[in-house]
Amino acid sequence: MPISERLSRLGSGIFARNDQRKSAYASRAASRGLPPLLDLSLGSTDLQPPEAAIEAIAAQLGQPASASYCLHAATLPFRSAVADWAQRRFGVKVDAETEVLLLVGSQEGTAHLPLAVLNPGDRALLLDPCYPSHLGGLHLASAEPVLLPLDPEAGWRPDFDALSPEQWDDLKLMVLGYPHNPTVTTGQHSWLDEAAARAVRHGLVLAHDNPYVDLALDGEAPALLRSPHWRDCGIEFFSFSKGWCLGGYRLAFAIGAEWLISALRQLKGVVDFNQSLALQAGAIAALEQAPHWPEQLRQEYRQRRDRMADALEAVGWPVRRPSMALYLWLELPPQARERSWGSEAFCAALLEATGVALTPGNGFGPGGEGWLRLALVHPVADLEAGAARIGSWLATL
Ligand SMILES: Cc1ncc(COP(=O)(O)O)c(C=O)c1O
Repeated sequence: MPISERLSRLGSGIFARNDQRKSAYASRAASRGLPPLLDLSLGSTDLQPPEAAIEAIAAQLGQPASASYCLHAATLPFRSAVADWAQRRFGVKVDAETEVLLLVGSQEGTAHLPLAVLNPGDRALLLDPCYPSHLGGLHLASAEPVLLPLDPEAGWRPDFDALSPEQWDDLKLMVLGYPHNPTVTTGQHSWLDEAAARAVRHGLVLAHDNPYVDLALDGEAPALLRSPHWRDCGIEFFSFSKGWCLGGYRLAFAIGAEWLISALRQLKGVVDFNQSLALQAGAIAALEQAPHWPEQLRQEYRQRRDRMADALEAVGWPVRRPSMALYLWLELPPQARERSWGSEAFCAALLEATGVALTPGNGFGPGGEGWLRLALVHPVADLEAGAARIGSWLATL
């Protein structure tokens, strides 16, 4: 079959493999009276978006313009709202005309960026572990990943000195993302400042994937836009999926150096038209009418984090309490290590025995092996019931 080498390098992807296992479990559960699937494997929240956003979308749905293709020029009201948000949020003046781009999710943006800035064989630095689209995007561009392992004992801080100056000179792109999925670490702004300074010194692009910018639970989230060098080397990706719970609507944006925005825009001109004006109206309403939405989410996620951590610790599974919202990042329990199970084998066995789905850490790169990601995307009562199911099963091992 004529399948490209790029696709074979991509592999099946952790979310797709997990999806198959979950749907197989769900159909077995229905026919055999097993406990229903409790899906804690995706950062797709049960929490609701602001009504103002949904009302704005609904109000625009019947408009003929909402059904038309939306070319870049027509996204200006959206881009202007983003520029106003950047001014309020970071005190940074951004040019809506040249420095902002609408995206169909930040995943889309991070996956397409390498095609816009790299040639085949170019090297790009990724954190290990990292969000899967960072690596996937490099494979699509036939670029070479250079992995920078993150060390739990160093608080998942990137050690930029691990690469020699020659290796830095050899890079064309570096992709970072703090607050960091999957290690659930807020990170520090000084890390980004250092990355930006190195990007300028060694002449590479710095992409910062920042969908969790409003979901730090401890400290202030880093943002590339606050680094003095962002216009010299950088592009930052933001999303409506996490802070405004609009994941299914696929709305996000990039802010960055004019030449990077222009390159990504040119690439996207081949691939897609923009989201409907109706969806853009919802995004504008979220930014303008519900700027504090993420604040209430943080309170809820903090409670979920603490209650789920307590519940897991009560069944003997130690938890490092994370500094950002939405997930727990758990070390494989001793029972798994005794059986020499890796993270994927553990997740498959857990799902089979309990109906609770987690994400194996190996789906985020070799550095994620030995870890599991649990998404706090159900109410506390469901999470605690899940912890009880997990605890009963671990006790049988
Ligand atoms: C680091 C990171 N980037 C991107 C995404 C995808 O976000 P979006 O829904 O905007 O595509 C996620 C989703 O979990 C993520 O964790």
